[in-house]
Amino acid sequence: MPGNLALRWQWARIDELSARDFHAAKLLRDAVFVVEQNCVYQDADALDLVSWHLLGWSGDRLAAYLRVVDPGSNYPEPSLGRVLSSPAFRGQGLGQQLVAEALQRCATTWPGQPNRISAQQYLLQFYQGFGFVPVGETYLEDGIPHVEMLLIK
Ligand SMILES: CC(C)(COP(=O)(O)OP(=O)(O)OC[C@H]1O[C@@H](n2cnc3c(N)ncnc32)[C@H](O)[C@@H]1OP(=O)(O)O)[C@@H](O)C(=O)NCCC(=O)NCCS
Repeated sequence: MPGNLALRWQWARIDELSARDFHAAKLLRDAVFVVEQNCVYQDADALDLVSWHLLGWSGDRLAAYLRVVDPGSNYPEPSLGRVLSSPAFRGQGLGQQLVAEALQRCATTWPGQPNRISAQQYLLQFYQGFGFVPVGETYLEDGIPHVEMLLIK
């Protein structure tokens, strides 16, 4: 099943995204991280300005999204965040495709650099599948258990 649905990938700084494209990403981030996860938190932040945004499109529908924060901004390493697939597209391997695509883009953009992620704890195994290893203790971020993970290449 994974990999059956082919997405069109867009990898862009915020200034290169059209208002409509960023709006689509922001709609989905709010739908997933605020509404679905029932979490009141500040989703848009200054890190959006120092990130690469990865959008996976199925036709004109945004199916998957994440951002990679520049090294030296949040962490010393480039850092994946806001990892999501649209609820309408779950369970078809898009989460796998999304992270794999992001890691390839990172390898090209910052060759040889490790990647860090602040992962929701329930997805520990998912990220371990890409070679991420947990570093440090579980902690609460906006009330949700997280663990920091590092991928060394
Ligand atoms: C996590 C998420 C991106 C996975 O998207 P998806 O398109 O369903 O991903 P895939 O179909 O590629 O599944 C990949 C793996 O995700 C993991 N996974 C997905 N949902 C899960 C859940 N509810 N609990 C545990 N693992 C889960 C599984 O390991 C799955 O592997 P499997 O195919 O061997 O079962 C999606 O569920 C999502 O957007 N969740 C809400 C946002 C979120 O929590 N993001 C993570 C922030 S760190």
